[in-house]
Amino acid sequence: MSVVVTGATGHLGRLVVESLLERGYPAAEVTATGRSIEKLADLAERGVTVRRADFGDRASLREAFEGADTVLLVSGSELGKRVEQHRNAVEAAKEVGVGHLVYTSAPRASDTTLILAPEHKATEEILAASGLNHTILRNGWYSELYGQTLEQARAHGFFVGSAGQGRIASASRVDLAEAAAVVLADPVPHDGTVLELTGDTAWTNDELAGYLSEILGREVAYRDLSSDEHRAALLAAGLDAGLADFLVGVDGNIRDGELSHTTSSLSELLGRPTTPVTETLRRLA
Ligand SMILES: NC(=O)c1ccc[n+]([C@@H]2O[C@H](COP(=O)([O-])OP(=O)(O)OC[C@H]3O[C@@H](n4cnc5c(N)ncnc54)[C@H](OP(=O)(O)O)[C@@H]3O)[C@@H](O)[C@H]2O)c1
Repeated sequence: MSVVVTGATGHLGRLVVESLLERGYPAAEVTATGRSIEKLADLAERGVTVRRADFGDRASLREAFEGADTVLLVSGSELGKRVEQHRNAVEAAKEVGVGHLVYTSAPRASDTTLILAPEHKATEEILAASGLNHTILRNGWYSELYGQTLEQARAHGFFVGSAGQGRIASASRVDLAEAAAVVLADPVPHDGTVLELTGDTAWTNDELAGYLSEILGREVAYRDLSSDEHRAALLAAGLDAGLADFLVGVDGNIRDGELSHTTSSLSELLGRPTTPVTETLRRLA
C-alpha cells in the first residue's frame, strides 16, 4: 500500500513519515513531498521516495500522487491561499485515482468561530463533494506552540495573553503524527469519518503558568489582558499588525471556549493516554 505525505518538509509531515517507518511501514512504500525537498535528503537515503509537490502546481501534485493508494494532505501554511491549494491537491488525487485521502483539519471546523476554521471547513466540503474515499483528522492545537511561551517565561517570569480562563485541549504534534500514521497504515475502517483529535485534558493559562514555574524552577505568572491591551503589547514587542490581530483573535477564541473540548479519539487511535502538555514542555525546556 503506497502512501504519499504532503508537507513532509514541515514539522508534522516529517513526524508522520518517521512514525510510519518506526511502525515498520516499508520505506519503499512511502513518498515524502514538499517544495523544499532538499530537507528530505536523509529520508531518500533511508529508501523513502522524495518528490517535489507544490500546491500551486497541479501537474507536480499529479506526479507526486501517481500510483498512491493513500495520500495524507497536510494542510498548507499559506493562510488565505489554502482553499485553492487544497482544491488542487484533491482534484489531482482524483485525476490519478488515489484510493483514499486523509486531510488534517482544525478543531470542529464545520461548527466553530475559530478564526482559522473557514479554510479548513471549505476544504472538508471540497473533499466531501469529490467522491474520494476520505478521512478528516481535525487536529487539536499543538502543545509545541507553547515552546515560545516557555522562552518568554524563562526570560521574564511572566507571559501575557487575552485568553482569560479559556481552556486549551492541546495535543502534541508527535501524538497527532502517530495518529495520522495509524490511519494511513489502515485507512479503510476510517473511511468517511471525522476525528476530533485533542489532548485528554484541557488547561488554562493560569495552570500553564503553574506548570512552567515547576519546569523552569522559577515563579511564572500569567497576566491576562483585554484584547486591546494584548494587541498593544504585541505591537510594542515588534510584531506586525497582521500577526498581532491573529494572535489576539485566537486568544479570543480560546476565551470563548473554542479550543476547550476534549475527546477520546486521539488516545483511542494511539492505544494510550495522550502526551500531557507538561511532558512536551519539559522536552522543549
Ligand atoms: N494544530 C495547530 O496548532 C496548528 C498550528 C499551526 C499550523 N497548523 C496547520 O498544520 C499544518 C502542519 O503543521 P506544521 O507544524 O507541520 O507546519 P509547518 O512546519 O509550517 O509545515 C508546513 C508544510 O506545508 C508545506 N507547504 C506550505 N505551502 C505549500 C505549498 N504551496 N505547496 C506545497 N507544500 C506547501 C511546507 O512545505 P515547504 O516548506 O517545502 O514549502 C511544509 O512542509 C500547517 O501547515 C497548518 O496548516 C496547525
